[in-house]
Amino acid sequence: MATPSTFIFCSCQYGAQAILKQEILNHWPEFKFAFSRPGFVTFKVPEGFPLKSLPTLDLKSTFTRTSGICLGKVQAQDADELLKQAAELVSQSNLENIKHLHLWQRDTSVPGERQFEPGRKPHTDALANQLADLLQPSGVTDKLTVNKIARPDEKILDIILVEDNQWWIGWHQATTTPRCWPGGVYSIVLPEHIVSRAYLKMEEAIQWSRLPMKSGDLVAEIGSSPGGSCQALLKRRLNVLGIDPAQMHESLLEIPEFTHIRKKVADMKRSDFSEVKWLMSDSNVAPNYTLDSVEHIVTSPKANIRGMLLTLKMIKWELAADLPAYLDRIRSWGYQYIRTRQLAFNRQEICVAVMKSRGKRKAKR
Ligand SMILES: C[S@@+](CC[C@H](N)C(=O)[O-])C[C@H]1O[C@@H](n2cnc3c(N)ncnc32)[C@H](O)[C@@H]1O
Repeated sequence: MATPSTFIFCSCQYGAQAILKQEILNHWPEFKFAFSRPGFVTFKVPEGFPLKSLPTLDLKSTFTRTSGICLGKVQAQDADELLKQAAELVSQSNLENIKHLHLWQRDTSVPGERQFEPGRKPHTDALANQLADLLQPSGVTDKLTVNKIARPDEKILDIILVEDNQWWIGWHQATTTPRCWPGGVYSIVLPEHIVSRAYLKMEEAIQWSRLPMKSGDLVAEIGSSPGGSCQALLKRRLNVLGIDPAQMHESLLEIPEFTHIRKKVADMKRSDFSEVKWLMSDSNVAPNYTLDSVEHIVTSPKANIRGMLLTLKMIKWELAADLPAYLDRIRSWGYQYIRTRQLAFNRQEICVAVMKSRGKRKAKR
């Protein structure tokens, strides 16, 4: 009997599937593009590929939020039937040592549009609980933990709501911080007093990068208005310099740990950054302009910047092809530890986390 083919799935931002496909096929030309929908892409793994390496394989992908090994899909018109079929498929799959169930929906819109934000939703949590109840008495699994952050290396059953009537089923191992999160998304609810959704990006960037910022450290953000990301930094008791010719929200101006420098970054002196330990950039300009500004600061003999979180705006998706050149440029400034990710709360942009020395990153949550 022929061995069944193996497929992997990758989730990404709604609309990023074409760039994700390109990125994966550049790194893994032997993989074959298969089924996809906005925010969800699958690939066929070639015969002869070392399947044992798949659960811990680093896809080297900026645009993949999370990924895993497909077990199959189920189709039906109502949720009860989908749950029943999903439980059957899981019971036939010989899964071992699965601790978690992550049941999530592919994104239905671009983050920040039509009031959509990625992350856990009450209806997916409710379905996940129903499925966990169905799986347990059948002895297929011990009671699975539902839609919680996994611990490093734990194994996770994924149920992905690709369409209302079509769910994909797979599993993965929590080999990286975002792979511990349901659907690769660090769920954040926007608190009421927050002045812009950039708060979400900064929260996620900090959770993902685990830069070892300590309370009292001085952080500068280029492109800080109106101030959501500064709020995420101030919450951590950091001292923050917000650099932006535009107005900050008035609530930030009352905070003693916050200073607004109402200028374009090019109008600042390099020595203004001599006490800055961490540099953030979120200007709405093309990546090369962002890198010009950052280069000017970090290459100053007086600068002592340990790490950075840079948002690179993909003003057009084609700029993703220039990513290796952007990273080479950052390395040339003496920063060797660089990771890239399209954060779930990013829009058409990516986040680059940069550290001068490996140091100790913050513990995983
Ligand atoms: C996406 S918004 C930043 C959002 C902000 N991080 C927040 O948390 O609300 C981009 C900002 O970049 C600023 N900007 C553009 N060019 C800049 C420059 N050369 N120097 C400083 N800020 C700049 C714009 O004024 C704009 O407020």
